Amino acid sequence: MTAATIINGKQISEEIREGIALEVQQLSKQGVRPGLAVVLVGDDPASHVYVRNKEKACHDLGFYSEVHRLPADSSQEEVLALVDKLNKQSSIHGILVQLPLPGHIQEKAVIDAIAVEKDVDGFHPVNVGNLVIGDDSLLPCTPAGVIELIKRTGVEISGKHAVVIGRSNIVGKPVSLLLQRENATVTMCHSRTSNMPEIAKQADILVVAIGRANMIDASYVKPGAVIIDVGMNRLENGKLAGDVDFASVKEISGPITPVPGGVGPMTITMLMKNTLLAAKRLSG
Ligand code: GUN
Repeated sequence: MTAATIINGKQISEEIREGIALEVQQLSKQGVRPGLAVVLVGDDPASHVYVRNKEKACHDLGFYSEVHRLPADSSQEEVLALVDKLNKQSSIHGILVQLPLPGHIQEKAVIDAIAVEKDVDGFHPVNVGNLVIGDDSLLPCTPAGVIELIKRTGVEISGKHAVVIGRSNIVGKPVSLLLQRENATVTMCHSRTSNMPEIAKQADILVVAIGRANMIDASYVKPGAVIIDVGMNRLENGKLAGDVDFASVKEISGPITPVPGGVGPMTITMLMKNTLLAAKRLSG
């Protein structure tokens, strides 16, 4: 049997970024420079790394960017006042509030306060509702990246059985909706599913976002299936691991994403794509 194709998320992401950078140049000539504001509250080390990466992507692709780093003891009112200011600021087309927020701040209150047309995370309930209905909304970044990776394998989604493992609001649920939109037959599995290997083994396309390192081994996988691993688990030895046991699964699967270098690089690229789209819509 020939070895599975490894889906190169980094390279695909770079190709998409080149296209975005060109569009940003063109839009800038018309006097519109897409702008992203990121709000980071507190000292979570992982969040600081993610935000630096977003800032760098803005710089590399020619976006205007602002990063607002607020102390951990900022009040909810202070965060809401900043969001309100950014909603009204014409140089800003996209607003992203980095999650998680400190415990004393209600995430829902903050997300609800972001202007729907600037919600480049796609987390606002109106954008979530538009996603369910199939309206043209800002799509959540990681799920949009997952669909893009599947499409670029060349494997047809329409008519296939897709199984999504994990039902989070930011990955599992929206991925299942986007797969249905692409005419897949979708089954959702989660931590309480009793016969997960049997169900997963029926999948032509298996998307895993359950947050448990190396949980999905070859016993969950139909030979030749497309495997998309959204997991990002930090092991005790400091290394990153996905939710899929890559070494065993790649021996029988079809195209498969590695961790790192699969879904991860796509998330920020889709954020940039959303910010560009928001800028075009707000200025057009
Ligand atoms: N924290 C981890 N992932 C994300 C994301 O996609 N968006 C935001 N806002 N915060 C996150």
